[in-house]
Amino acid sequence: MKNVAVFASGTGTNAINLYETFSKGDRIRVPLLLVDRENAPVIAKFRDLGVETLYFPRQVWRKEPEKIVEELKKRHIDLIALAGFLSIVGKPILEAYPERVLNIHPSLLPAFGGEGMWGQNVHEAVIKAGVDRSGATVHYVTEDVDRGPILLQEEIDIEPGETAESLEAKVHQAEYRLFPRAVVEAFRRLDDKENRKEPERKPEASVPAPESSAATAGSGQGTDTSWEQYFNSPEGREQTEPQTQADGSGSGDGRENNPYYGDRAKKTEAQAVAVNGEPMPPTYLVWSILCVLLCCFIPGLVAAYFSSRVSTKYYQGDIEGSKKASRMAEIWIIVSFVLGVLAATLYLPFMILSGMAQ
Ligand code: GRF
Repeated sequence: MKNVAVFASGTGTNAINLYETFSKGDRIRVPLLLVDRENAPVIAKFRDLGVETLYFPRQVWRKEPEKIVEELKKRHIDLIALAGFLSIVGKPILEAYPERVLNIHPSLLPAFGGEGMWGQNVHEAVIKAGVDRSGATVHYVTEDVDRGPILLQEEIDIEPGETAESLEAKVHQAEYRLFPRAVVEAFRRLDDKENRKEPERKPEASVPAPESSAATAGSGQGTDTSWEQYFNSPEGREQTEPQTQADGSGSGDGRENNPYYGDRAKKTEAQAVAVNGEPMPPTYLVWSILCVLLCCFIPGLVAAYFSSRVSTKYYQGDIEGSKKASRMAEIWIIVSFVLGVLAATLYLPFMILSGMAQ
């Protein structure tokens, strides 16, 4: 059994939805709620359900997050789900739970994310921007707000006359489908990673489901056996899968191998640019191809590789990484060009000299 702790600050409809969804299965459960507001409405709801609730004042979240890690570890928490949680999750928590802290955001990140973009603000900004699509994103939490790698997204259409309120209601429905599925997907990836790391510890497939994450590592219950069982339950896969996206495909610019990149999210490029004011750095793709064809082949290929990383990183929300890739592409184009010119200009004198030597 995997243990998920939910962190919330407000009404907590997503938190309740996670609790209820996983109570129906026997692989994942939500035994703990953590809040940063003493009177958050979600507390009473979880108490009614008989779920343990811990309150830590904002001061503790800011200055002593180690205390929180201690409580989580004591309760054998495997993964953290932020469901409308407004405090910053400090480095010690992120370090104690690498690739195990997820957040749900009510837009198609990287569009409409970052400082001040929470709750109703997001939907108002979406309506104001006049875009025709919005949705929900579950991403890994990093120190940069709303910039962690995207795990899953679900898109919804914005109808004419849509208001921030009606949009919020639609996005909430998408979130209820998306978040449980993203939690399962995160566990599936962790299982995959563990199984790749320690294949020699893999016993026969008939070993029963593990009771803790430590046991899971060598249980032989890989992605296909353990998590698919959950998906195949009547209320699981059927309801959520057709509208959610995890893996991009066939874009031809390197994104197809990027598990964090949603197909439909690609279409929101223009929206992301308009809203975040962060245009994609130049990819130099044409120059890279010219260098491969006309100048020096190997440095040209290296330039093309970095060129493809520009958009991949950008759509993961890693703007810094994208800028770095763009700079690298630029440098390798110059290297390729210089080597190409040198080779071309030296060719003639070299041939003349070698002809004279004969
Ligand atoms: C959700 O829209 C979520 O995306 C955002 O905060 C909202 C929380 O809503 N992070 P609820 O408290 O789960 O109803």
